[in-house]
Amino acid sequence: MTKYVIHGGKPLSGEIEISGAKNAAVAIIPAALLVDGVCRIENIPQISDVTSILNILQDLGADVRTVNRTTVDVDCSHIRNAKVPEELARKIRASYYLIGALLGRFGCAEVPPPGGCDFGGRPIDQHIKGFVAMGAGVEVGGGYIHARAKNGRMQGTQVYLDIVSVGATMNIMLAAVLADGMTVIENAAKEPHVVDLANFLNSMGADIMGAGTDVIKIRGVQRLSGGVYSIIPDQIEAGTYMAAVAAAGGEVLIRNVIPKHLECITAKLLEMGVEVEEQDDAVLVRRSGPLTRTNVKTLPYPGFPTDMQPQIAAILCIAEGTSVLTEGVWDNRYRYVDEFRRMGAQIQVDGKIAVIEGVQRLTGARIQACDLRAGAAMVIAGLAACGTTEIGCVHHIERGYEDIVRKLSGVGADIRVVVTPGEEKQAQVG
Ligand code: EPU
Repeated sequence: MTKYVIHGGKPLSGEIEISGAKNAAVAIIPAALLVDGVCRIENIPQISDVTSILNILQDLGADVRTVNRTTVDVDCSHIRNAKVPEELARKIRASYYLIGALLGRFGCAEVPPPGGCDFGGRPIDQHIKGFVAMGAGVEVGGGYIHARAKNGRMQGTQVYLDIVSVGATMNIMLAAVLADGMTVIENAAKEPHVVDLANFLNSMGADIMGAGTDVIKIRGVQRLSGGVYSIIPDQIEAGTYMAAVAAAGGEVLIRNVIPKHLECITAKLLEMGVEVEEQDDAVLVRRSGPLTRTNVKTLPYPGFPTDMQPQIAAILCIAEGTSVLTEGVWDNRYRYVDEFRRMGAQIQVDGKIAVIEGVQRLTGARIQACDLRAGAAMVIAGLAACGTTEIGCVHHIERGYEDIVRKLSGVGADIRVVVTPGEEKQAQVG
């Protein structure tokens, strides 16, 4: 069993370098399936979700070569297989991008339903609605989603998304780049990773307009050819470290960021009394005084990101006054609250609303990460708490944060990884 042990209460000081964006990488890597030639993808984060998606491509027959720590060459020219193995696909949410990419490349795909964090229902009906509108037949059975373009090639069309969905927007984009004619996605998601995927595809020869607005137009082209592309910095990783500084106090320069992508997070931290200074590709975050209450509602971009909801909750727990947090994207993203309560947090949850009564101090406790961002929020709570916090199930955190322990230790946090094989045996026997 691997756990993180944190002795809290130490202010942070120094610099943290942000890695490439997880949610861009897990879409751009499958997008290489559409490219005839070698895609050199730079600024790839070293996280287990990326390893999983690269393993799937290799299993399909892609040639994947590591160039250096953050760069891989992916060549999918010789792939002939459109069936994704179940055990690999279930590890991650983003395996659904293989449906759009394989449909675009071969006109057919066999992909198991995706895994990922548990926030209540996570339907993919809007993805399927898009594929069907583009002329594919889609059936689910035998543990697989079977999709096949009726004429062997996807057909451009107009798709109106009933819900703003990041995954459906990007998946339909993948299915459309090599389709016949023009696809128009209305009510599209505008997240930075949607724009990054469009930029990647355009740099390989696609014709996509409007990414970053709510109408995206994709004119199908005959072929994409290889090239070099660098993934954007991770908005949520940067926001997580900004929240860590807010929690622990101190001053940290967070480097390799796009400050524009962080504005929604910066605005809330400023309201809470945290100082944030934007630089060209960095933000300087400082907190010396008390944190003050605020209300937060999560929304699709450019609203406050749902993937920062547990981290902001961690700092609202120690802010003066009562804050109201409203989850506007997922049905059930408060599963971490019981763990925070073990640390002395005062939180009441009613459906999508959490009311947080700030306390003077959290106290260290033994807690379990229940998903990726909740796990990161527990690390933040541990940094702010007095005493020792032990966090189990950290594999959730390592799905999306590269070297979180090293990065935090580098700015003075007292955090270490502890592996206890004895406990692992006990846990299995128990
Ligand atoms: N939805 C539907 N039908 C669909 C698709 C979505 O009803 O076909 C609903 C969902 O249930 C949810 C809302 O629409 O209520 C938004 O879901 P979306 O499709 O945008 O989420 P996703 O693509 O499954 C991605 C990120 C999540 C992030 C959300 C929202 C990846 C791999 N995952 O998920 O990231 O929370 O967008 O921004 O990109 C994370 O990184 O920790 C994470 C969970």
